[in-house]
Amino acid sequence: MQTLENQKNMISVGIIGGSGYTGKYLLKFCSAHPFIHSVTLYGKKTAGKSIYSIFPELSELMPDMIVTDASSLSYQHDVYFTALPHGEALLFVPQLIEAGKTVIDLGGDYRLENKTEYEKWYHQAHNSADLLQKKTYGIADYLHRVAYTESLIANPGCYPTATLLGLLPLAEYFSDRIISISTAAYSGSSGAGKSPKAELLLSEMHGNVRAYSVNTHRHQPEIEQNLRAYQYKSDYSFTTHLLPVAVGIYATSTVFTKEPVPQETLDFLYKKQYSDSPFVRVRESAPDLNWVVGTNFCDINISANGRTIVITSAIDNLIKGASGQAIQNLNKYFGWDETLGIIPKGIHCAKIPA
Ligand SMILES: NC(=O)c1ccc[n+]([C@@H]2O[C@H](COP(=O)([O-])OP(=O)(O)OC[C@H]3O[C@@H](n4cnc5c(N)ncnc54)[C@H](OP(=O)(O)O)[C@@H]3O)[C@@H](O)[C@H]2O)c1
Repeated sequence: MQTLENQKNMISVGIIGGSGYTGKYLLKFCSAHPFIHSVTLYGKKTAGKSIYSIFPELSELMPDMIVTDASSLSYQHDVYFTALPHGEALLFVPQLIEAGKTVIDLGGDYRLENKTEYEKWYHQAHNSADLLQKKTYGIADYLHRVAYTESLIANPGCYPTATLLGLLPLAEYFSDRIISISTAAYSGSSGAGKSPKAELLLSEMHGNVRAYSVNTHRHQPEIEQNLRAYQYKSDYSFTTHLLPVAVGIYATSTVFTKEPVPQETLDFLYKKQYSDSPFVRVRESAPDLNWVVGTNFCDINISANGRTIVITSAIDNLIKGASGQAIQNLNKYFGWDETLGIIPKGIHCAKIPA
């Protein structure tokens, strides 16, 4: 972890892939951050375009901003966010780390710990597999006791964020009692990014729900890897569904245990675990997606019935599942208040305007 003592100056940030959905919130949070003095947006097809032509709603924040071509990336920034389709971060991250820069990668290229697993699930070769073991997996609300020692932070996926924040306390304290875990998770269409896809047309999605990537979703090994880190040894299944909404992730995990775990024990454990987390709210009933869309909150409910425990969690995929958590990771890396840039002081529960 860096400290304010050795980071007296404010920092300069480069956002590579900044013209996409997650880039928009990175730009917004960086522009509100008291310790960031400049932000440069890098793109490919959008290079040369004005901020007004990409995010007209943000143009007042940075009226003169033009997207810079990522092929002329400057190495003068202190911190880089890579918000790129998977595979593309491999073109930038190794050189940036080699140059001594701090990188927070929002994609999936550095989340898994093992090259073979990456190549199996992502169907492509990894060019910097040594970094898979030299990164912090930035599940920001579960890293209270972990120092940020690596200059590469792999920001978790959106489904893993919602699912793991719901499951990790149980895995950490009760893994030996669990027979199996199964998660059914639901996402809005913005989870797939900005580029057009026929199956995401309003005419395909309206009034419709379907499962997709059954048994093949790349977030399954990411979730399993983190459960295994807490000695979870049993089966895990993960099924994703597309919801007819633009934004939001909802995850429902069903856990079967060998013996009942009392509700009071679970309530105590979850409240204690998240008592220091400004962005996790343990709720008394299953959350609505509406409670979290437009915020950096993860709302969680845990409900026990004999040997069955049901955990529901909800997040905004673009904020808590991506850019909000990435800024939290930046703040934690430098030892700053983790809410900086994400929410203005005094309006903790307010939604972030789109
Ligand atoms: N959407 C979510 O809910 C979500 C949540 C968590 C994590 N993520 C992950 O975050 C990453 C970004 O997601 P997103 O939804 O923001 O995607 P997106 O909307 O599709 O944006 C991707 C951006 O990457 C840029 N790009 C692509 N190739 C490039 C290159 N070689 N050089 C420079 N820029 C390049 C594109 O810019 P041009 O148009 O200029 O080419 C585009 O603006 C993905 O890995 C995704 O899996 C997404």
